[in-house]
Amino acid sequence: MNTKIIKIQKEHIKKEDLQEAADILHSGGLVAFPTETVYGLGGDGLKEDAARKIYEAKGRPSDNPLIIHIAGIADLGRLTDSIPEAGRKLAGAFWPGPLTMIFHKKEEVPMSTTGGLSTVAVRIPSHPVALALIRTSGVCIAAPSANTSGRPSPTLASHVMDDLNGRIDMIIDGGPVGIGIESTIIDLTEDIPTILRPGYITEQMIRDVIGAVKTDKAILHAPDSNLVPKAPGMKYKHYAPNCDLIIFEGPAAAAADIINQTAEQTEQEGRRVGIIASDETKQLYTAGIVKSIGSRDSELSISQGLYRTLREFDDLDIDIIYSESFAQKDFGAAVMNRLLKAAGYQVITCNGSREEADYGFQQKI
Ligand code: TXA
Ligand code: MG
Repeated sequence: MNTKIIKIQKEHIKKEDLQEAADILHSGGLVAFPTETVYGLGGDGLKEDAARKIYEAKGRPSDNPLIIHIAGIADLGRLTDSIPEAGRKLAGAFWPGPLTMIFHKKEEVPMSTTGGLSTVAVRIPSHPVALALIRTSGVCIAAPSANTSGRPSPTLASHVMDDLNGRIDMIIDGGPVGIGIESTIIDLTEDIPTILRPGYITEQMIRDVIGAVKTDKAILHAPDSNLVPKAPGMKYKHYAPNCDLIIFEGPAAAAADIINQTAEQTEQEGRRVGIIASDETKQLYTAGIVKSIGSRDSELSISQGLYRTLREFDDLDIDIIYSESFAQKDFGAAVMNRLLKAAGYQVITCNGSREEADYGFQQKI
């Protein structure tokens, strides 16, 4: 299959520029497009066959349900009959934006889209290109992140090309995304609304709008613990580079010391080392290929840089990545959640103290 690539600037969108993409969606084809979180791989969420094609293109297990993207709250009625009060309040506060809500699904939503579940995940993205595509096509667009299953989500159109060129009909290049990690997911079918995946919209921001909310404990722990995450996608070791990744937890200078020693030793064994640092700490390293993912003063810069950096290390054929740890406050907790998953929860504590960190699993040296 020949994948057509079109460029659209989000500041200058003309409806006719999106007509061909809309036609592809109508005829059951696949179009990758930018959202404010990560690039999505879109198909018609109400067509049985489109979901099957999406799973095939991504190489994704078909028990992993898709998020449906709509352009306005009116379209929610096409997907669910039951919108709880909390859903209305959250939609008012955070849509369009990086929040996905889970409702009981209508009959019309195919089981292939929801991975066999009786619930459906929905969001209104805020990216102008995504909104224009949904409006021009009139399609409820099912879209997982536009990466090959298991790889880091794409934050640039070139990442989508690397993974899916030749496997999908079209890629819309709308430039770099704004947030860089996937949306927060909240399940509204539980007695107490439950966060199934942390993201830019934090538990506190949600609590301020609806009161009671909790976070699925399983997503904060290593997958070999006894807890099973309710969002099927969170059980896989994913968001991951091809090589091994280990996080070094502790004060910057102590972590850098141990990373330097470990990196030197690894290089002596003939293996290529990548180091994930920040603008503030990158000069502390004396071994390995060092990349800053952003500034510690801006959680957003760290989230924007995370997946891009993991992919850059893949392109450099790095054998192992040693990463600093990052602040876990607010949105930072969502970024660390992805880094921990990419690392398969391998954490080494290097501050000499024996205190447990916040997450469920770690290794001490
Ligand atoms: O930011 C995002 O959410 C991006 C952009 C493209 O919108 N999309 C995205 O989709 O991250 P995906 O497919 O990579 O992740 C969807 C997650 C999976 O972990 C899946 O298991 C969970 O949402 N999910 C979807 N429907 C669900 C449902 N009905 N119940 C529980 N979890 C669900
Ligand atoms: Mg994904």
